[in-house]
Amino acid sequence: MSYKIQQLSFDPTSLNGFSPKLINSHHANNYGGAVRRLNAIRAELANVDWPSVPGYRINGLKREELIAANSAFLHELYFQSLGPCTGLKLGGLSVAFNRDFGSFDRWLEEFKAMGKALGGGSGWVLLSVSTHENRLINHWSADHTHLLGGATPILALDMYEHAYHIDFGADAASYVETFLLNIDWDKANAGYAAVVEHATVHLAAPSEEVLANRENVTLLDVRRAGAYEASNSVIAGATWRDPEKVVEWSSSLPEKPVVVYCVYGHEVGQSTAAILRSKGIDARFLVGGLHDWIAAGRPAEKK
Ligand SMILES: [Fe+2]
Repeated sequence: MSYKIQQLSFDPTSLNGFSPKLINSHHANNYGGAVRRLNAIRAELANVDWPSVPGYRINGLKREELIAANSAFLHELYFQSLGPCTGLKLGGLSVAFNRDFGSFDRWLEEFKAMGKALGGGSGWVLLSVSTHENRLINHWSADHTHLLGGATPILALDMYEHAYHIDFGADAASYVETFLLNIDWDKANAGYAAVVEHATVHLAAPSEEVLANRENVTLLDVRRAGAYEASNSVIAGATWRDPEKVVEWSSSLPEKPVVVYCVYGHEVGQSTAAILRSKGIDARFLVGGLHDWIAAGRPAEKK
């Protein structure tokens, strides 16, 4: 079964500062070329006589398969990263930037500097969600073969010269600045949410169980500061803690199981529970968050 080329999910004429010629050439020739190489290599692998094939041929084919596959998959993420710039909305990913980098701007400075540092060279700059370390991380990837163990890329910057030479010549720095103006943050946010949700399904605490067991757990409201301040309600008995400072306050919790809740029970609460777990705390997140708790008529109180 051959791997299929994914079509662009946006109109190439809609980008700001990138020509359709560059985007279409990159997609058809470089991404498309990687998919065609991957299919050719896998067709050859299907016919290898493994007991008799020389080791050097196995090494070559499997190395080239990895290069072609990662080139194809990272190009797909690169093109998914582009689109009409939506701006980063306040929510799970913005909380994670503040928590893991200190601020969005600090993350941006690092990501941008990494891209510009590859000017004149080649490689990828990736923003990934590490479920191993429960954090966002920027990392370098060379020759389409370096990925970080336990981490899933959610944003990819292609620093191979073919990604920019048609529009920018050798001016890699301007290309990096233009890329950053064309990020579809809604897609990056959705990628982050999917990784966090997948990694934390085992930490889900159903509301009926939390209600029945309230005396035995520390209930923490970990809504984003702005969301907490704009709200009038909390779950009775809960204490607010800033999810962006979880590492700071995680060491001062009483020795009881913890249930955290956010607005809807998605990535803010899920990622906070995962970080608390990594600190040895018996933590889970409330399914459905405060929204479903109140909708079900469970006890809440005015702040
Ligand atoms: Fe590329």
